[in-house]
Amino acid sequence: MPADTSLPQSTKHLKCLCEQDKQAQSIRPVVVRARTRACLEPWVIGLITFISLIVLAVCIGLIVHYVRYNQRTTYNYYSTLSFTSDKLYGEFGKEASENFTEMSQKIESMVKNAFHKSSLRQAFVKSHIIKFSQKEHGVLAHMLLTFRFPSTEDPETVNKIIQRVLHEKLQDAVGPHKLNPEFVKIKKINKTETDNFLNNCCGTRRNRTIRQSFRIVGGTEVQEGEWPWQASLQWDGIHRCGATLIHDTWLVSAAHCFRTYKDPARWTASFGVKIEPPKMKQSLRRIIVHEKYKYPSHDYDISVAELSSPVSYTNAVHRICLPDASREFHPGDEMFVTGFGALQNDGSSQNQLWQVQVDLIDTKICNEHKVYNKAITPRMLCAGSLKGNRDACQGDSGGPLVSPDARDIWYLAGIVSWGDECGQPNKPGVYARVTAFRDWISSKTGV
Ligand code: ARG
Repeated sequence: MPADTSLPQSTKHLKCLCEQDKQAQSIRPVVVRARTRACLEPWVIGLITFISLIVLAVCIGLIVHYVRYNQRTTYNYYSTLSFTSDKLYGEFGKEASENFTEMSQKIESMVKNAFHKSSLRQAFVKSHIIKFSQKEHGVLAHMLLTFRFPSTEDPETVNKIIQRVLHEKLQDAVGPHKLNPEFVKIKKINKTETDNFLNNCCGTRRNRTIRQSFRIVGGTEVQEGEWPWQASLQWDGIHRCGATLIHDTWLVSAAHCFRTYKDPARWTASFGVKIEPPKMKQSLRRIIVHEKYKYPSHDYDISVAELSSPVSYTNAVHRICLPDASREFHPGDEMFVTGFGALQNDGSSQNQLWQVQVDLIDTKICNEHKVYNKAITPRMLCAGSLKGNRDACQGDSGGPLVSPDARDIWYLAGIVSWGDECGQPNKPGVYARVTAFRDWISSKTGV
């Protein structure tokens, strides 16, 4: 035991100083530092230990919380809500129409509020209207609900709580339509059933990993399921054009894709993010090119093609939504173009699907002298970047230019049509404007 341990604190302190005074003046600063280290007060040590323990405890707490949260299990439900509406069913019953979107959004936010004000606040993930159907005294909204509960939760109890919350909270929810909370039905469904319901809806995406990229030239590759409506059109097995699935037997593409190659029997459509091996392959039964398309004009550059048999929808293959003819897209809307086309002008087509984010460019600007000098008709729209770089290219023709709505449902806004080379400044991509052809598409396909 050291000789000075019996001394009171203050004396100990003095002694340190005295010993130090005896040292040579020239090395004083060094000695002072050495002394400070040797004389760390016990309470300082205590404090440091205490703080370290607290930091450690907080870290452990965070890790436990994180692990517990990640151990939560996803629970999916199919629910129907019955309500009466001032609006006629016909006004919002049509999937992907503006009225459908508006009504879905209202109900989804009402349901979200109900759960946010309940004990299920933490567990609620989302609600998603998949369709409306008509019944004697009103309308049924069909909805998928997703929750995340700790794995320990009993599914039966969870069922009951959800049912109770919907009954109680929707009772006092103020909405434009009269919801009848007595008629809330709910059923637990599994992951596959949930996927099937979502795959039957238009414009839904799984695997959303949006990374910015600045051109299809060197842009980003696409993961399976990101753009499930993309098809590759092949003539005698060779990729020629892109196309978009709008129904289980119908594709939309460009008219110019079928200018020299007309026989449907020699065309096939493949699906998936790779041309070889594809997720699915179908032959074409019928090709319908717009009657007003007259080469070499790019106007009316649209066609529809019927598949010889329907595709079955999966996470990786399903249809996109078509916008109402009245829908307007605005500069600033999120837009992507995808395709198996060249990565640079005069390059070769790709085996892998690529994506690039593009900006919608006002037609007035696109018709300016230094851009396309009045070549843009009301049946066309421009998208890309006036600075250059972000663009579609050869082999992307017929493929989709897409944009989401507020519910994150994706719509076909344009069809890759033409452009002056690829990614040149002031030469953005030009697309067939789908809204201008909305009625033409339904007259030919019934979609
Ligand atoms: N016409 C081309 C094709 O057949 C598509 C051109 C698109 N060009 C562009 N710069 N966006 O594949």
